[in-house]
This record gives sequence, C-alpha cells and structure tokens, in this order.
Amino acid sequence: MRGHEGSRARGGSSPRAPRPRSLAAPSHPRPTLESQRVFFQSLVVLHREYRSFPLGARLHILIRFLTCPFLRVAKRIPPGARVLEIGAGHGAFSRLAIDQGACRAIAVEPDTRKLHQTSSIDLVAGYDEAIRGTFDVVAMLDVLYTIDCKDWDALLHRIADRVAPGGMFLLKEMDPTLRWKQRWNRLQESISVRLLGITMAEGLFFETPERIVDRLRRAGFDDVDRVPIDAGYPHPHLLYVARKR
Ligand SMILES: C[S@@+](CC[C@H](N)C(=O)[O-])C[C@H]1O[C@@H](n2cnc3c(N)ncnc32)[C@H](O)[C@@H]1O
Repeated sequence: MRGHEGSRARGGSSPRAPRPRSLAAPSHPRPTLESQRVFFQSLVVLHREYRSFPLGARLHILIRFLTCPFLRVAKRIPPGARVLEIGAGHGAFSRLAIDQGACRAIAVEPDTRKLHQTSSIDLVAGYDEAIRGTFDVVAMLDVLYTIDCKDWDALLHRIADRVAPGGMFLLKEMDPTLRWKQRWNRLQESISVRLLGITMAEGLFFETPERIVDRLRRAGFDDVDRVPIDAGYPHPHLLYVARKR
C-alpha cells in the first residue's frame, strides 16, 4: 500500500522535471470500512479528550480534524513509538498518535492560548529547543509555513538531531504547485493568520516540494518520500516522510 502512495525523491530539482505527482498512483485509496471506523473512533477519542475545553477550542480542533488528514499521517507511526510533535496546537495529532499505538507523545507548542491540561499527552509550552533527547518519530504538521524561510534550515537540522537512528520525521505542509488548492489555502490562511489571529505566524511561507526535499537531505535525512495526502480535501496537503538510518 505504501508504495502506491508515495514517490521517492531523488536528488536535484530541475524546473523541467515532470511532477512526481503525475507519475504516482492515486494519492490515497478509497475509504474502506476500516478507515471509516477509525475516522469515527478518532472523533470519539478527540471528543472525550477535549470535552472540558472552551467551546472555541473544541470547534477549532473539530475543524482541524475535518480539514487536515491527521489520520493519513498518524497511521505511519509504528506501534510503541515515542513521538515528539513540534508546534502541536491543541495537541490533537499527538492524541491521535497515542490512539494509533504510540507509547508516549510529547507535544510542544509556543502559543499558550492553546495549552490546556490533557490526560494522555505531555504538553510543553515552548519551541523545539525546549526538548532534548531523541524520538522514534518527530512530527510537525502545518508549522513550517508560519516560520520565515531563512530559519528553516536551522530548524530542520535541530529536528534531525531529535530523530533517533532508524527513526523518522513526518513533515506535513501544503504543496504550492497545486495551484487551485493553494489559492484556496492562501485565502483561508490569510483570514486565520492576518484577520482572525487564530494562528501565531511570522507570515505565510511556501516552497516547492523539490526545495523542501533538498532542505531535508541537507539537514541529515537519508531517505525522503513525498506522499500526496490531499485526495478528498480542498487543501493541497503533502506529507514528507524523512528517515534517518
Ligand atoms: C496551523 S497551526 C498547526 C497546529 C497543529 N500542528 C495542527 O496541525 O493542528 C501552526 C502552529 O505552529 C505554532 N508555531 C508557530 N511558530 C512556531 C515555531 N517557531 N515553533 C514551533 N511552533 C510554532 C503555532 O503556535 C501554531 O499552533
């Protein structure tokens, strides 16, 4: 199944190279009874975890769950993995990682408005530098685009240091080369960052998948797969699975 979803990135980023997406098999299989069961089970898990949160936070978490393919990312976490999530927001992805079999999830988030007590994940107020040690999986979902590109390489290097040998970094970003989906994404992000101030961000920063793959390799990851996970969603969700040997 995995082989159908991803495209292994090769070195170089010629602007004339055919887009790997067009070569890939369908970006995600049709929903099965099992995936539907996991979807509804996850809704229940999130409801139980966050039911004491303020209404606004619960709505935010629900909208994130419905618009971001958290489960397509979480299913890649090996059973028993120790997970670090950077820029975790309310920690919904970390909570789902536990539900998918991770043994521990530490969720780091600098925006203290989003931090409330939860029962099954360890929330840390701060940036990635607040954490030491290594993890089987480091995850960062829709955070890079809120940080100025000039700081990306340093951040990705620090993240590579947090990944244990044999471990992986799951990076979820938007693919700006999917033009129509990206237009919708920019509009929505401009509203939530600039108008409503829901997301703490320095601005909106996007790069092509080729450049991000190059950055991941330079940061110290040996293998990088690109996995389109946007099927059925209006946003151009793209997952990078970066492994260290
Ligand atoms: C769009 S939200 C995504 C939240 C969460 N990852 C999710 O998928 O729901 C971006 C998050 O990144 C956090 N953030 C912004 N700058 C950051 C930084 N330099 N380091 C870590 N997190 C940051 C924001 O506070 C915000 O919670």
